[in-house]
Amino acid sequence: MAKTLILETIASEMPTGVIVLDKDGVALYANTFFLKSFPADGGVEGKHIRSIIENANLLKTIDSFLEKRGGSSTDIEMNDGSRHFNAHIVPLKDKGEFSLLLFLQDITEEKRVETIKKDFVANVSHELRTPLASIKGYSETLLDGGMDDKETLREFLRVIDRHATRMARLIDDLLVLSRLESHQMAIVSAPMDLSELITSSIKGFEKQARDKGISIASDTDELPKVSGDRDRLEQVMVNLLDNAIKYTPSGGEIKVRAEKTDGGVRVDVVDTGIGIPAGDLPRIFERFYRVDKARSRELGGTGLGLAIVKHIIQGHNGKLQVESAPGKGSCFSFFLKSAG
Ligand SMILES: Nc1ncnc2c1ncn2[C@@H]1O[C@H](COP(=O)(O)OP(=O)(O)OP(=O)(O)O)[C@@H](O)[C@H]1O
Ligand SMILES: [Mg+2]
Repeated sequence: MAKTLILETIASEMPTGVIVLDKDGVALYANTFFLKSFPADGGVEGKHIRSIIENANLLKTIDSFLEKRGGSSTDIEMNDGSRHFNAHIVPLKDKGEFSLLLFLQDITEEKRVETIKKDFVANVSHELRTPLASIKGYSETLLDGGMDDKETLREFLRVIDRHATRMARLIDDLLVLSRLESHQMAIVSAPMDLSELITSSIKGFEKQARDKGISIASDTDELPKVSGDRDRLEQVMVNLLDNAIKYTPSGGEIKVRAEKTDGGVRVDVVDTGIGIPAGDLPRIFERFYRVDKARSRELGGTGLGLAIVKHIIQGHNGKLQVESAPGKGSCFSFFLKSAG
């Protein structure tokens, strides 16, 4: 097979932009990926790099190569609106003729993941530091002579215990999330009865609701079996009911409705609570996102409950929706396909 054909195919199929410039910075050639990333009317050949890419930093580096007519290959990162590229610049000399080869790799996705990771570590550290600071503060006070009074001692120990419980919960939730994300906690679906799950989940919250003066009830049709992982779906119900109770003031109502729909079952967890402002709605399924951080933290929340719900429903290829009106209440719905 002809070598040129092989090289041409590589250049046109590679997922990296390639452009070759002559000694004056005028484009001699660009591959398909480059043209897709930096579209230019009528192609790039014969155009100066300045009219193709507008990145000041890149142009400065190219200029210095062209002036020197040489140098050693270098890499620079560049930002083009919302995209990030790594530019690998290689000077070429052939029989006294100078040209410059540019490889542009789109690293937008890597950058995005990097930012998510950085934010995540910052968030986790912050969330762990808050209860830890309290534990440290209270235990230091006790060690500094605060242990003489039995009542104070008991009170402080209770605070320490509460914060330690919070830290343990945060770590448990993080582990669940990370196992779900890395697919270590596989979703094992089998035909299951959602009305039984709903009834038993509600039972687990009856006391909590009664203590807060909230009514809790279910309203389910005759349901077909769905394909689901009971343990994981129980976690979904627990997280949604926990929120419904937490964010509904005394005197409110919680209802779990389930009905047969096209191809499956839809479950609604409806409350008459504080609701969620429209501006916050798109973000509540993000890790650590809370509408009112201070309030949620006071209630023992870490902001991971809904992120876990989202992962589990996604893992079932189901759908998740929320409707809410501040002061009126919220309705979290999920849809699962019927078994078989
Ligand atoms: N039923 C609801 N009514 C009003 N606001 C809600 C409701 N459910 C969730 N929210 C809002 O969404 C945020 C995120 O919920 P999520 O369950 O992920 O976290 P959390 O309840 O604060 O903490 P955690 O679930 O980890 O204990 C909550 O902090 C709250 O602001
Ligand atoms: Mg929650």
